[in-house]
Amino acid sequence: MTHAHPSHRLIVVSNRLPVILKHEDGRWIFRPGSGGLVGALAPVLRNRGGTWIGWPGVVEGEAPLLSQLLRQATRDSGYTLKPVTFGAAERDDFYHGFSNEVIWPLFHDLQSHCNFEPRYWDAYQKVNRRFAQVITENARADDFIWVHDYQLMNVGRELRALGMSARMGFFLHIPFPPLDIYMKLPWRFPLLRALLEYDLIGFQTLRDRRNFLQCLRLIAPDLSISGKGQVITVRVGSREVRVGTFPIGIDFHEFAQEGQSETVVRTANHLHEDLPGRQVLLGIDRLDYTKGVCHRFEAFRNALQRFPELHHRVTLIQVVVPSREDIPKYHMLKMDLERLVGEINGQFTQSGWVPIHYIFRSLNRTELLAYYRACEIALITPLKDGMNLVCKEFCAASSERDSALILSEFAGAAAQLQKGALLVNPYNVEEVAEAIHRAVQMPTDERRARMHKMRRSVRDYDIFWWVDSFLQAAIARDLSDFPAPEEYVPHTEAISL
Ligand code: UDP
Ligand code: G6P
Repeated sequence: MTHAHPSHRLIVVSNRLPVILKHEDGRWIFRPGSGGLVGALAPVLRNRGGTWIGWPGVVEGEAPLLSQLLRQATRDSGYTLKPVTFGAAERDDFYHGFSNEVIWPLFHDLQSHCNFEPRYWDAYQKVNRRFAQVITENARADDFIWVHDYQLMNVGRELRALGMSARMGFFLHIPFPPLDIYMKLPWRFPLLRALLEYDLIGFQTLRDRRNFLQCLRLIAPDLSISGKGQVITVRVGSREVRVGTFPIGIDFHEFAQEGQSETVVRTANHLHEDLPGRQVLLGIDRLDYTKGVCHRFEAFRNALQRFPELHHRVTLIQVVVPSREDIPKYHMLKMDLERLVGEINGQFTQSGWVPIHYIFRSLNRTELLAYYRACEIALITPLKDGMNLVCKEFCAASSERDSALILSEFAGAAAQLQKGALLVNPYNVEEVAEAIHRAVQMPTDERRARMHKMRRSVRDYDIFWWVDSFLQAAIARDLSDFPAPEEYVPHTEAISL
């Protein structure tokens, strides 16, 4: 593992800071942010130092002495936090609205969940401009500015308008949709143009990059592309924009080591003692309709109906981490999940066996690792996911134990883990039910061999590989050194016509 340290100072920009400021019991406290982005970037900043610019979760005027509070929060972290704040109306229209009622569902192929409210676009531009102003106040021309995720696609354009000359990269943590879906977006052309202001644009998978390039051809039919590896070059007028594929990873060694710590092992043993003789299936997801938890519950119900030998032998522990509950679709999802758990448990529970254990809260680090260790089978079945880090964390923390992974073929991680995971179409509840049955019966040798392959890949392509390859791609003269990552191509069945 190489940890390249280019001389440039790193300015990381994301909508969320790694901490969320909350007012509880009359005082301000910091809660860690949830989701893959902050979890992945925190070790990068700890390792390299730099500045992290983002929103601390409060609106303008809500928290006095904000900068002082943030200084306290990161006193020993080795990096600096700089806040961007905006008003309550902008939080509603930019964050809840454009980001999470337009881009999030559309980019996850769920166009029926979109609310294309025209005023959301104005708020998006305005808040992205605000981010650009704060960056300008904190960056120098020789810094590398790295902007993250779908909430901030316009920031590059705003920075150029403010005269920023530093090199700028952008990484999209979520999928980029196929052309026919992207075309539904009322603001499809200005957004594509805005992305082209970055010097390097990164995607999670080759498929996301292909989708992006297809959309780009609409505004530039004679697009000139050179290269064919991990990073390619697109000519935009007199400029050259690099476009790459960088599957994000985790801090493998940290998860592997902490997963074996005495406290985690003890907590994991306690968890399993309460479920004697059971194989435990585990799902951990933010409250989000893209995670496919309702479909997963239906698949589990289907498995219990079709394979009665699983009764008393399996328990599904489903952790749902609260997220975006102010958005109506998320609130409705929470109610649907609670109803389904009640229904399935009502249908199958017998003395001494409750099929689904449902937990609605965020876990602390020890609990998270203990669940990874305690469970035999991870059931990760998003309808669509940029990468999905939970499955990688499960592989890293499960150690040499014989654990199995059932994974959606629509998670970005499918490309990397296809040789070890049981890949499923999450919409096909019968197929997922059969995978559950198969995983429960899988011989130890097969589990071990599969897990070995996955752990090796998660170890070799960890978060430090990811950050190094992105930063190198931004500065390298020769892009032929960047081989294309693996791609997942669904298995086809031959049909006679
Ligand atoms: N996670 C968390 N709090 C919890 C449980 C999990 O912050 O109570 C973390 C988990 O460790 C993982 C991230 O949330 O790093 C989820 O990332 P993923 O890529 O799977 O999905 P996302 O939430 O980003 O869509
Ligand atoms: C996903 C997104 C992140 C986002 C996170 C949590 O991981 O890719 O950009 O920060 O979910 O969502 P939230 O809306 O709480 O920031």
